[in-house]
Amino acid sequence: MSAECLPANLASVPRERWPRHIAIIMDGNGRWAQRRDLPRIEGHRLGVETVRKITEECANLEIEQLTLYCLSSENWKRPPQEIDFLMHLLEQYMIGERTTIMDNNLRVRMVGRRDSIPSQVLRELDETVAMSRSNQGMWLNLAINYGSRAEIVDAVQEIARKVASEELKIEQIDEQAISDHLYTAGNHDPDLLLRTAGEMRVSNFLLWQISYAEIWVTEKCWPEFDELTLHEAIVDFAQRNRKFGGLNG
Ligand code: IPE
Ligand code: IPE
Ligand code: MG
Repeated sequence: MSAECLPANLASVPRERWPRHIAIIMDGNGRWAQRRDLPRIEGHRLGVETVRKITEECANLEIEQLTLYCLSSENWKRPPQEIDFLMHLLEQYMIGERTTIMDNNLRVRMVGRRDSIPSQVLRELDETVAMSRSNQGMWLNLAINYGSRAEIVDAVQEIARKVASEELKIEQIDEQAISDHLYTAGNHDPDLLLRTAGEMRVSNFLLWQISYAEIWVTEKCWPEFDELTLHEAIVDFAQRNRKFGGLNG
């Protein structure tokens, strides 16, 4: 988006102060619906619309990476009807969003464990990922069946295998090596961690990667989150003094 098209509040902050990688805990679908006497699944259904809106806006704003928490490894504890609906929505999303993904030049990848995800969902996901492989625009990381501790376990196992096969020396295991074995390998760490629906916790999301992320929480539930609130978060982020343990930003 050219500078003159930017909303005034965004135009007032220099580009170099914008986040390069935004990670979002899309929470509050169920509460949004329940407050309106609707079944929880209606919140999930509308949540998909917000995903489209916010993904497109981030692409327009030329954000480099967007990571969306779609389903945690702990969400399987929910009632089977809700899980079934979420799987159905994921499958529909993978099919229905292909045009948006290609029109916006997005590179999609899944971050999470593939086990437990129904094969028809994986099939559509794989097709969408393959289709978007040569795109050059924003990375769209979809965290599905994602748990940060599980991700770290997987990384440790992979590193241990490489040490056992002498592909890697113990002394070569440093912070970069660990980052390189996470599902998000190759991405910057998120600069801005956004959570909707007011909870002040990280719920097993990107524990390694968010070490120095700025956290921004809104009371708005995900289905009512919009572009203006996203802009507000970016402007607020740009005004933070990130010190990384030093004295000045
Ligand atoms: C987030 O909304 C979506 C998923 C976790 C799949 P929730 O379903 O957690 O909504 P609340 O937190 O119960 O309101
Ligand atoms: C985090 O939300 C997971 C997703 C947004 C996909 P939860 O609703 O699962 O988190 P808790 O249970 O409130 O910590
Ligand atoms: Mg929740």
